[in-house]
Amino acid sequence: MYSAQWKSPSNIALIKYWGKYGNQLPRNPSVSFTLDSASTTTRVTLTEKNDKNGAHVDFLFEGQKNDAFASRIEKFLNSISNPYFPFIQDYRLRIESSNTFPHSSGIASSASGMSALALCLSDIQNQLTGTEDFSEAFYRHASVIARLGSGSASRSVFPFMAVWGTHPDIYESSDAYAIGIEEKIDPVFKTFHDDILIISPKEKSVSSTAGHQLMEGNPFAAPRYEQARQRMSALMVALSAGDIETFGRISEDEALTLHALMMCSDPSYILMEEGSLSVIKAIRQFRQDTKVPVYFTLDAGPNVHVLYPGEFSQQVDHFINSELKPYCHNGRIIHDKAGQGPQKIV
Ligand code: DP6
Repeated sequence: MYSAQWKSPSNIALIKYWGKYGNQLPRNPSVSFTLDSASTTTRVTLTEKNDKNGAHVDFLFEGQKNDAFASRIEKFLNSISNPYFPFIQDYRLRIESSNTFPHSSGIASSASGMSALALCLSDIQNQLTGTEDFSEAFYRHASVIARLGSGSASRSVFPFMAVWGTHPDIYESSDAYAIGIEEKIDPVFKTFHDDILIISPKEKSVSSTAGHQLMEGNPFAAPRYEQARQRMSALMVALSAGDIETFGRISEDEALTLHALMMCSDPSYILMEEGSLSVIKAIRQFRQDTKVPVYFTLDAGPNVHVLYPGEFSQQVDHFINSELKPYCHNGRIIHDKAGQGPQKIV
C-alpha cells in the first residue's frame, strides 16, 4: 500500500501576490515568511481501483468526511494528473487532513493545505517510481503542484522565507515555482515573530480568487506590478543586510497597498475593521515612542500580523497584552514565528 504524510506550514506574504494570469501565474513576484505553528498535516493513502474514469477521493477533515471538499479536490487532481501524477487515474485516494489552527481564526488554510497535499502526492510519485529523492528538485516540483492548487501555497515548502515569481535580481526565481531564500537573508530574520491579532474571525468578504480577478480591471494594476518589482529589489537588499527598518517600511507599505487596491477595485471592498486601523496606529506610535522595531502586515482581511525580531519579544508581548489585545475578538491572538518549513512524518 502506498501512503505519505506531511506537515506543511502556512505563510505570510511581505510583498503581496495580488493579480494572476494564465494557469495560476503571478502578475508580480512575492516574498513571504514561512510560519512555524500554523500548519496542516495531511496523509494520502492509495488503494486499487478498477476504472480509469478520473480521480476518486475520500476526504476526511479533522476526522469528519467532507464530500463537498472531496469533489473540489477531485477536480484539482484531474487537472494535474496529466502530466504530473498519472497514478491519480489508477488508484482511489484517501486524504486525511487536519489543521493546527481553528477554522475561524482568519488564517487561510489554502497555503498549508495545498502545500501538504502537493508534498504527499510528490512523495507517492517517488515511491511509485522507486526514487528516494528529497533534494531541492523534490521541493521545487512540490512547489509547482502547490502553486496550481493555490498560488501562495507555492511559497510554503521552504524554510524561513521564500520568493515566488520571476525577478531579474533573484537568481533562479520563476513564475512556475517558489525558491527558498534562507541563505540570502540575515540571521535576524529567522528569529522573527508573527503574532496574529484576530480582529474578526469571520470568513473573508471576498475570496482571493475573486480578489485576483478584480485586479484585471483595476486602473492602477500596471503601476502596481512595477511597484512590487521595485519593492522586491529593495527588500532583497534589506534582507541580506539585516536592515530591519527598510524591511518594516516596505512590509507596511505593501499591506496598505493591498488594501488600497481592494478599496479602488470595482466593486470596492473595505477589508479592514475599525479595530485593524486602531491597532495599526498603536503599533506605529509604540515604535516611535520606544524605538522597538515592531511592524505590521495584513492579509486580505481585517486581522493584523505583528512582526518583530525575537530578541524584543518581552517588550512586544507586554505592549500587545496591554494595548492591542482589547481590539481582538475575545482577546484572541495566535503566536507564531518564522519556521523550518515542511516535515515528512514517518
Ligand atoms: C493576499 O494564494 O489565496 O494572501 O492563487 O487564488 O489560491 P489563489 O490565491 P491565494 O492569494 C493570496 C493573496 C494574499 C497575498 C499573498 O499571499 O501573497
